[in-house]
Amino acid sequence: MSIPNRDSFTSKFGVIAAAAGSAVGLGNIWKFPYEVGQNGGGAFLILYFFFVVVIGLPVMMSEFVIGRKTNVNAVRAFKKLSPNKPWYLTGVMGVAAAFMILSFYGVVAGWTLEYIHLAIVNAFKGQSPEELSKGFNDFITNPIKPVIWQVIFMILTAVVVIGGIKNGIEKITKILMPVLFLIIVLMGIRSLTLGVNTSESGEIIGRSVDGLKFLFRPDFSKIDIDVVLDALGQAFFSLSLGMGTIITYGSYIGKNNNLKKTAVEVAFLDTLIAILAGVAIFPAVFYFNVAPTEGPGLVFSVLPSIFQKMVGGYVWTLAFFVLFAVAALTSSISLLEVAVAYFAEELKVKRVTATIIVASLITILGVACSLSNSVLKDVTILGRNIFDTMDHVSSNFLLPIGGMFIAIFTGWAMKKSEFFNELTNQGAIKVKLFSGIYFIIRFVAPIAIAIVFLYSVGLLG
Ligand code: PHE
Repeated sequence: MSIPNRDSFTSKFGVIAAAAGSAVGLGNIWKFPYEVGQNGGGAFLILYFFFVVVIGLPVMMSEFVIGRKTNVNAVRAFKKLSPNKPWYLTGVMGVAAAFMILSFYGVVAGWTLEYIHLAIVNAFKGQSPEELSKGFNDFITNPIKPVIWQVIFMILTAVVVIGGIKNGIEKITKILMPVLFLIIVLMGIRSLTLGVNTSESGEIIGRSVDGLKFLFRPDFSKIDIDVVLDALGQAFFSLSLGMGTIITYGSYIGKNNNLKKTAVEVAFLDTLIAILAGVAIFPAVFYFNVAPTEGPGLVFSVLPSIFQKMVGGYVWTLAFFVLFAVAALTSSISLLEVAVAYFAEELKVKRVTATIIVASLITILGVACSLSNSVLKDVTILGRNIFDTMDHVSSNFLLPIGGMFIAIFTGWAMKKSEFFNELTNQGAIKVKLFSGIYFIIRFVAPIAIAIVFLYSVGLLG
């Protein structure tokens, strides 16, 4: 029942670039730093690492295997492998997660467009981090401006998704990801060499080394179940796992690709960029004496200050925000793609029509997220505004639970030989540590996720 004329990635680098393009996004540069900041620094980082390696990687391999083996969208993949069983609901939950995530993702991505605009008109010049922070707050609490940028961003996303896999996603990612990487490294170097910040009277305001200490020195007293849940959710969010993105991308991957290697490379790149973003931001946060717990505005108030301390700051700021927006775009297209592939292939609507309808619905939901910083700020669900609710429910619950079902499906509903054959390209390549990976998929990942989940809703401990 495979779909005729399905697009596929043209080269090996194309696959990695596209999957890494999905993984690397706002999650690395915007969310990771503020989560680290709010959750006590190094201790969060260690938990995060642990979840990436022990749970994220095996789940990513499972998703690649399910996708490539079936060559269809995330919902039908389950139906194909396990007909007449409810496993496909995992895919349906993924489509729901895609809606929720992209609704707030489009808002933040819209913010990056406003920052490109501000960079072009050189609006950051001479502004202190406090002024930048105030500027950020004025902007997001404006009911109209962020919505306009959000809509523009969603249109861009839809245009790329309509363009299809080869023409759209692969090309953009291939060229721009390496440039983004370079700029973040340069920012990191500048941030680290800021040194000691003193006032006119000689008082020490802050030191950049303290940022490094904050990021890498774990304070285990900061860990509680909410921090654990955030780290787990962030691992899934940042690796684009648990909702069928990697299943969908896997379905476009050629039969000769080494899936385990691709998974390791993508996870490595994603984690590296998150850490580099941390190294760029935290030394500056401490140098300028900004509160690391500032939250979603953290990178928007701090990064422009780093660029002001760089030769050619104007160009760097502009280049950074353009690439930041592009990184968001290569992720948002992967979110939209999950829902579009589902509607186009299952409901037999044309791809263009499916894209327009889905993108419009998500944009409407997104407007509510955006307005929860202004006119809808008093609308709360269990103490969280609409924006935070979308983020919290999707990242911390839907994705890990989706990942748990994906692991259980791979470990228990699929035959071991099916999984083995797909991962080894029908025996053509050797996969080291196969038994260990399989054991984690069957037991460790599902049990660990279940424990974190039960604890966090208060059913354990
Ligand atoms: N991984 C993306 C990021 O870090 C977000 C994303 C989540 C994309 C889930 C696809 C699926 O920005």
